[in-house]
Amino acid sequence: MPSTRSIEVLATAPDLFHAAAEEFVRAARTAIGAQGRFTVALSGGSTPKALYSLLATNYADFVWNRIFLFFGDERPVPPTDPDSNYRMVKESLLTKIQIPAENVFRVHAENPDAAAAAADYEAELRRFFELRPGDRPGEFPRFDLILLGMGPDGHTASLFPDSPALEEQSRLVVANWVAKFNTHRITFTLPVLNRAAEVMFLASGADKADMVRQVLEGKNTPPLPSQRVQPSDGKLLWMLDEAAAAKLTR
Ligand code: 6PG
Repeated sequence: MPSTRSIEVLATAPDLFHAAAEEFVRAARTAIGAQGRFTVALSGGSTPKALYSLLATNYADFVWNRIFLFFGDERPVPPTDPDSNYRMVKESLLTKIQIPAENVFRVHAENPDAAAAAADYEAELRRFFELRPGDRPGEFPRFDLILLGMGPDGHTASLFPDSPALEEQSRLVVANWVAKFNTHRITFTLPVLNRAAEVMFLASGADKADMVRQVLEGKNTPPLPSQRVQPSDGKLLWMLDEAAAAKLTR
C-alpha cells in the first residue's frame, strides 16, 4: 500500500481544477523550499488542460525557473500534431509563463522509431536525475509530483490493460504497443510512477464514475493499471469532482 492514499471530492469541475492547482503550487513550494527545485511529470489527454490553463492564469509569475517539466507519456506524433500531449501543454501553459526552455523536457515522439524515442527520453531522465545509465537496475528517478489521468478502461499514462509495458521492472521509459490503437505509445513505467514523492490522479465527469469506483473500491484480477499505481514511499492523491465520484460508497 502507498504510504498515504487520499481521495478529495470537489463539487464541480472548476472547483476540482482550482484545488488541483493549489495542490500543485503547495507541492512546488515544499520541494523548492527543501531542495531548490520541483520536478513534475505532466499528464496528457483532455482532463488536465483546464488545470494547466489555471496555472497559467493564476500563477503566471510563479517561480517557473525552479520547475522542471517532464511528460509521463506521449503519442507517436510530432509536437505540432493535435494529438500531441506536448502541444496541448504548450498551448495551455508553456506559451503563457516564463519558464526557461531548458526546463521543459518533451518526448521526441516524432521519431518513427518509437523504441529509440523511448530510449532517448530514458537517457534524458537518467542524465537529469544523475542516475547511472542503465547499469544498476532498480535505480529510479524520484519525481516530486507525477500527474496522471485515467481512461475508461482503467489505463493511466500509456499503460493500458494487458499491454507489455505493465510488466517492465527495470526500464524507466518504454515504447508500449497498444493493440487497440495499433500503435506504440511512449510511457513511463510503473516503477517510475511508484517511486514518486506524490502522485495526483485527476478525474472529472460522469463518464469516469464506473471506472473510478472499480479502481478505488474494486478487486480486479489482474489489477487495473491505475490500481497498480501505489507509490512505495509517497503520497497517492485522487482528486475527483462529484460526477466522477458519484458511484463511490461514501
Ligand atoms: C494520454 C494520457 C492518458 C489520459 C487518459 C484520460 O496521453 O492520453 O496520458 O493516460 O490521462 O486517457 O484521458 P482524458 O483526460 O482525455 O479522459
